[in-house]
Amino acid sequence: MDSDLIKLVNKLQDTFANLGGELDMPQLAVVGSQSAGKSSVLETIVGRDFLPRGSGIVTRRPLVLQLIHTPVPETTSGGLEPTYTEWGQFLHIDKRFTDFNEIRREIEQETFRVAGQNKGISKLPIHLRIYSPDVLDLTLVDLPGLTKIPVGDQPSDIERQIRSLVLDYISKPNCVILAVSAANVDLANSEALKLARSVDPQGRRTIGVLTKLDLMDAGTNALDILTGRVYPLKLGFIGVVCRSQLDINASKSLQDALESEADFFRSHAAYRNIAHKNGTKYLAKSLNQVLMNHIRDKLPDMKARLNTLMGQAQQELNSFGDAAVYGDKNQQGALVLRLMTQFARDFVASIDGTNMDIS
Ligand code: GDP
Ligand code: NA
Ligand code: MG
Repeated sequence: MDSDLIKLVNKLQDTFANLGGELDMPQLAVVGSQSAGKSSVLETIVGRDFLPRGSGIVTRRPLVLQLIHTPVPETTSGGLEPTYTEWGQFLHIDKRFTDFNEIRREIEQETFRVAGQNKGISKLPIHLRIYSPDVLDLTLVDLPGLTKIPVGDQPSDIERQIRSLVLDYISKPNCVILAVSAANVDLANSEALKLARSVDPQGRRTIGVLTKLDLMDAGTNALDILTGRVYPLKLGFIGVVCRSQLDINASKSLQDALESEADFFRSHAAYRNIAHKNGTKYLAKSLNQVLMNHIRDKLPDMKARLNTLMGQAQQELNSFGDAAVYGDKNQQGALVLRLMTQFARDFVASIDGTNMDIS
């Protein structure tokens, strides 16, 4: 995540917490057919290797992943106990996970425990928090893929059940939808886009993500989709190449995957000219932009609330008058109010100082 954005959001959130308010950040959810690459895309956004991925139905319960920004801890003097800057914590088990492979195993086990061994799905979410200095306070939701035909223990109305499960998350106006479609399947059949459109008809909060560009038939490409000539989305389509099953089996690192992805776009005859507007890094950047817009939309409200608070504080301050000079209690009250007024004033100035257009 962009570190300037992390700083700005943290500052705004801290300030609001101090004033008894809240800056609620949007949720981000992935929608798409089974094996379209939803978990792969989410993982690259977080920049950590920890989600179960694979062919067939792997994600069988919603995973509500709460990223929590934590400051870098001060190094301990003794150095006997290792200091971890990043760790995971599940709601269902009281334990700190510092090994991200172990987090993946726990998600798998917890999926089996509730959704069974045989391809069943469950509405019951797994809650995972990841604490790190490199993340924004943001909630990401990984969801089971849309399917049509029941397999294993799945009920006959599996299609309807998964659809309603996905809708529970993406119909919230505060949800940013990553509509994931695989490039080696005709876009006209994209369940992701159909479902996203049903809750966001104007495409205001939907980002189209096209995966598996590396798996398209020789001689075909997705240039028309990526340049917005096939399906209109305000936020556009971004092509990505995530790790293949072979890469996963060979434990290819995320970093290596990012590099081969960049190579793919740069060296591809059809994509060379739009390479800078595709790939995982660009997706993360676009996401930052969406979050910035979200914050910007909320700023006028915040500013109005702060102005009211400032006005009230000033009035109370005035009402203390000379009395404030006598009794200790009043003096303290006046001081607090004066500080608060100054604080609110600084805050409004800091908003005005950002290059956001909030008029
Ligand atoms: P999900 O079911 O939508 O969550 O999809 P997964 O993230 O589990 O991915 C399904 C399979 O597709 C996995 O084996 C991934 O390795 C593979 N995969 C995902 N994205 C890509 C891609 O861009 N290129 C290739 N070659 N394989 C991919
Ligand atoms: Na899958
Ligand atoms: Mg998945």
